[in-house]
Amino acid sequence: MTNKLNYFVGNWKMFGDFRSLKIIYRINNFLSNFNKIHTKNKIIFCIPNTLISFYSKKLKSNFISLGAQNCHYNETYGPFTGSVSASMLKKAGAKYVILGHSENRLTGDSNKLIKKKTKSASNQKLKIILCIGESYNEKKNGKTFIVLKKQISKSIDKKCDLSKIIIAYEPIWSIGTGKVPKIYELKKTFKFIKYQFKKIFKTRNTPIVLYGGSVNEKNVRNFSSVFEIDGFLIGGASQSSKKFIDIMKNYYK
Ligand code: PGA
Repeated sequence: MTNKLNYFVGNWKMFGDFRSLKIIYRINNFLSNFNKIHTKNKIIFCIPNTLISFYSKKLKSNFISLGAQNCHYNETYGPFTGSVSASMLKKAGAKYVILGHSENRLTGDSNKLIKKKTKSASNQKLKIILCIGESYNEKKNGKTFIVLKKQISKSIDKKCDLSKIIIAYEPIWSIGTGKVPKIYELKKTFKFIKYQFKKIFKTRNTPIVLYGGSVNEKNVRNFSSVFEIDGFLIGGASQSSKKFIDIMKNYYK
């Protein structure tokens, strides 16, 4: 076991109500008893906006932080019916925000729009989990690196606090499908993302990069052989405390 800090981030998507807090409570109880795991990890739950304020008041955890899953580009208040700004999320208790998830890119979030969102979120001192990833066709046509480079360079505002940006590499073809990239592909891709980030933003700091896409308690162990992977963005399996706990346990087995 190394001393590397690993991230286990749950992305609940459109899941959860007030009672679902018990899922997070169970995980918190588990972490309280296994300091071997919690001292090496950052555990974050990105939950629906409707739950952030309630959960942040109820959850007194030393181990778990809360995040949102998207925000509007306009930083504070404005005439944007149905939208929620970074400042509102921050006030509700979010510490993180996922931006650029492929499910949002599919419904209109362009690199340009995501870039504006990163600026708002960064100004509000939210930590950003920026999702990038290629489609199946892009992969098949050998375009993965071109797509990733473009997403990194075009969807992060240069004025953002770069130390607060976490990248999540989520190949679109892997999300919710049970398919995951090969280990040698992940090694190459993670090296590429870290190298490009440093080059594009002229920084010496290597970014934290997570893997996301069909991570579960059975396949997580395999990913530990890729040193460059700093943690996971977990969708479906984060909706069950048992699965989420097993993912953490099995990663360190
Ligand atoms: P999944 O989702 O783990 O269900 O594949 C990951 C994500 O969309 O962030």
